[in-house]
Amino acid sequence: MAIDTDDIKPPLKERLSQQMSKLGSDMKGSQAWSSIFRPGSIFRKGYTDSPRNRSYVIMNSVMYHLHPVKVKRHAVKVSYTLCLGGLSFFLFILLTVTGIFLMFFYRPTAAAAWDDIYTLQTSVTFGLLVRNMHRWAAHLMVLTVFLHMARVFYHGAYKPPREFNWVIGVILLTLTLLLSFTGYLLPWDQLALWAVTVGTNMMGYTPVFGDQVRFVLLGGVEIGTDTLLRWYVLHVLMLPFVAVIFMAIHFWRVRKDGGISGPL
Ligand code: HEM
Repeated sequence: MAIDTDDIKPPLKERLSQQMSKLGSDMKGSQAWSSIFRPGSIFRKGYTDSPRNRSYVIMNSVMYHLHPVKVKRHAVKVSYTLCLGGLSFFLFILLTVTGIFLMFFYRPTAAAAWDDIYTLQTSVTFGLLVRNMHRWAAHLMVLTVFLHMARVFYHGAYKPPREFNWVIGVILLTLTLLLSFTGYLLPWDQLALWAVTVGTNMMGYTPVFGDQVRFVLLGGVEIGTDTLLRWYVLHVLMLPFVAVIFMAIHFWRVRKDGGISGPL
């Protein structure tokens, strides 16, 4: 027997929309919903647009409360900071994500390192793309951190009360350069090998402790697997860990010093 589908469709549709609206109102009435979208949330209707409620919007949201409740008008102008600090941080995050991907395919030994990079580029899906993203982001980060420092200098933001944050910044610049240099060795190609040989030889001329400094950096008397392991651990673990700590202090200080400097 043939069934006229037109007879079934409207009630089914209706029932579905009833179910959906019930689900919606159940969800909005639930404790979880009202604890997330608390008073002052932009998602809650019926609140007046007062300075107090605007403050609640920021304070009561996990994401927003990382930002100050109020910012100076000039501070949100892209032309003031050129977002160079933000770009440096974005590149750091990108480097972390792409770096984790690379770690799945890379072994830090003299026998395996170069082959692993070669296999990564030729046989791993998106391997070449992710490796190049990591490399370019590293070059760009050195550039943005340096330009950020120049911007801060131009605006005189190194002066009190921000002199402490300038010092934290200098440490961040050093960490960025160290991350770059330790990463340089990891492909274990001719360029990496000789660049690090020249670099560590230069550090070997440090007065008084030269030989010891060189020995610690190389993990031996000459460049080899021990150097690679040492620089790998510095590159993927220790330096990023220390950088994250100093970045947290850096951002906290921006808030404590009364937000961004200026206007000029
Ligand atoms: C990993 C490196 C760095 C990151 C991720 C970073 C991030 C930031 C961010 C997001 C800000 C907020 C304003 C803006 O975006 O310009 C800032 C401000 C600041 N940074 Fe950095 N920064 C880094 C390195 C440096 C360096 C190398 C210096 C100086 C030697 C420095 C000194 C400062 C100072 C003094 C401020 C306050 C600027 C103002 O009030 O106008 N930072 N940084």
